[in-house]
Amino acid sequence: MSQEIESVLAESRAFPPSDSFRAAARLGDGDEYARLHKQSIEDPSAFWGGVAKELPWLRPFDEVLTGPDGAQSRGPGVEWFRGGEINASHVCLDQHLDTERANKTALIWEGEPGDNRTFTYAELHTEVCRFANVLKARGIGKGDRVAIYMPMIPEAAMAMLACARIGAIHSVVFGGFSAASLQDRIADGDCCAVITADGGWRRGSVLPLKPAVDEAIKDQPRVKTVLCVKRTENAVAWDPARDVWLHEALEGVDAECAPEPMQSEDVLFLLYTSGSTGKPKGIVHSTAGYLVGAYLSTKYVFDLQEDDVYWCTADVGWITGHSYIVYGPLANGATMVMYEGAPNAPHEGRFWELCEKHGVTIFYTAPTAIRAFMKWGDEHVERHDLSKLRLLGTVGEPINPSAWMWYRDKVGGGRCPIVDTWWQTETGSIMLTPIPGVSATKPGSATLPFFGVDAVILDEEGREVPDGMGGLLALRRPWPSMLRGIWGDEKRFLETYWSKWPLTYFPGDGARKDAEGNFWILGRVDDVLNVSGHRLSTMEIESALVSHDAVVEAAVVARPDDLTGEAIVAFVIPQGEAGEAEAVAQALKDHVAQEIGKLARPAEIRVTTRLPKTRSGKIMRRLLRAIAAGEEITQDTTTLEDSTILDELRSGPKA
Ligand code: WT7
Repeated sequence: MSQEIESVLAESRAFPPSDSFRAAARLGDGDEYARLHKQSIEDPSAFWGGVAKELPWLRPFDEVLTGPDGAQSRGPGVEWFRGGEINASHVCLDQHLDTERANKTALIWEGEPGDNRTFTYAELHTEVCRFANVLKARGIGKGDRVAIYMPMIPEAAMAMLACARIGAIHSVVFGGFSAASLQDRIADGDCCAVITADGGWRRGSVLPLKPAVDEAIKDQPRVKTVLCVKRTENAVAWDPARDVWLHEALEGVDAECAPEPMQSEDVLFLLYTSGSTGKPKGIVHSTAGYLVGAYLSTKYVFDLQEDDVYWCTADVGWITGHSYIVYGPLANGATMVMYEGAPNAPHEGRFWELCEKHGVTIFYTAPTAIRAFMKWGDEHVERHDLSKLRLLGTVGEPINPSAWMWYRDKVGGGRCPIVDTWWQTETGSIMLTPIPGVSATKPGSATLPFFGVDAVILDEEGREVPDGMGGLLALRRPWPSMLRGIWGDEKRFLETYWSKWPLTYFPGDGARKDAEGNFWILGRVDDVLNVSGHRLSTMEIESALVSHDAVVEAAVVARPDDLTGEAIVAFVIPQGEAGEAEAVAQALKDHVAQEIGKLARPAEIRVTTRLPKTRSGKIMRRLLRAIAAGEEITQDTTTLEDSTILDELRSGPKA
């Protein structure tokens, strides 16, 4: 990590917003920004109370922040907007119906094969109400958990909003996850229904989804309904007692469905994310606080204005898709683009073609995608008219300054501010970010804490480290969209996030702050990998490897990768002779892809007879990381049980 700190320190370029951007921005006055930020920290109840009142409530809230110490409460267990009742689909849809936005385009959708559909707010409202009535007719109601396993089609967003409308808790599982991963998540959340599709289009072929659902729920009698959207027309198996085609169920269904009044703290959704040990964690998000966070951050971070065309390229299976495709943009009455397919299908200029075609003004993507665009060549960008773009964003992992500069120059034509946004599944909304009309951006820095965010760099003991020094990122104050728990596991929730320091949230990232208060994220400090901007747990990948007959023991680490940020290197101890496992390296890679999903496929399998362990038997991952990256081992190896092992690992066969 010390090396990363050095290289980052060398970055001194800063880009203040242009006068024209500043003049037109929602927030372009530095003094106004400073005043708001000060209020958000010093009087959070006044600040957040004011923001929350911009949303339509079904019953007004009595208090803004409560907990053991009233409005001063910190740590886990705080409550936001006590006494209020609200409904997320009402916030996203109904509130716009009596305004000029009723006939404004809410969603512009493009399928990978080039088909497209658009929906106004009024149309989206009708679709969601009918969808919600279908769920109700299947006996699904308030508090029930519903898994959503979908391609990027409008019905994915509608399914989420339909659940929200009737108070059911959605649990979206990324469509790239395997049947086994889906099964774990359905079982953990005790879901009673699954919403899926026959398949989705991905790089010119059908990615089947329904078969994975069938596989995932074969031992889950609690799942009474599988609601299936017809998208790709591939043949699917059918259980008439359980399976329902959405288009059939929608026939003759009423277009009126009153939104269920939800208490502020009622759960809106679960979303599973990786931890360093154990099974994936079902992160629990509230209704009101989450909406307030998604709403405000979308408005200010993206400087959202009435005529913008906004495109976030994430999948709804990740938190970015929840907060910045569905809830944040719709709560703000935005027009947004949603795209089903891969960025290089049918050609490597597809995203730029779509930006030009739909006149995209705000574009939000991930560093891993930006690095792929760079690799594919400037000509794909240059071929398209991107002059409508006015703001760019990135999320998911640290962005290297060269990719940042390329994004700024080639995509943004040197005129668009870049908002590098740091946050997590757990934080629900953006925590560190430039405010585009105010902040000077710096390549590689997520810059400053957003409203109400009290971020500091601490050491293990909770002491603030001096500016410029690396340490652990910490958040000292509660914020409305913070996670409320881990589904069914309060103990793990407290241990993972709230046990390092008293009443302070530990995100698990290393970071440093420069003399101007800008934050530079250094990456995860635990054994969690970040592949293409998505957290994967080493533990899950290791279990998948060991579940293969050819493997006795496995240790998984990441090495830096130009394209994906981190690539997975698996060290495996084979069953029997080493030669055999080498032969099955390909099979092992496929096996992991099968068990967890393609995202988790190891880039490299290294066969070994032993793994470096401490005397207490803990695998020393830092050594494996150095070996995987081909670095000299300069670390302390005195705790290593058997030091001859390092030579074997370094010279060992690769596959
Ligand atoms: C982890 C959270 C938030 C949506 C996507 C990922 C890393 C996220 C940045 C950024 C550096 C970043 C962190 C964080 N991360 N954004 N702008 N700069 N690192 O959500 O799967 O919950 O992962 O992603 O390590 O802890 P997630």
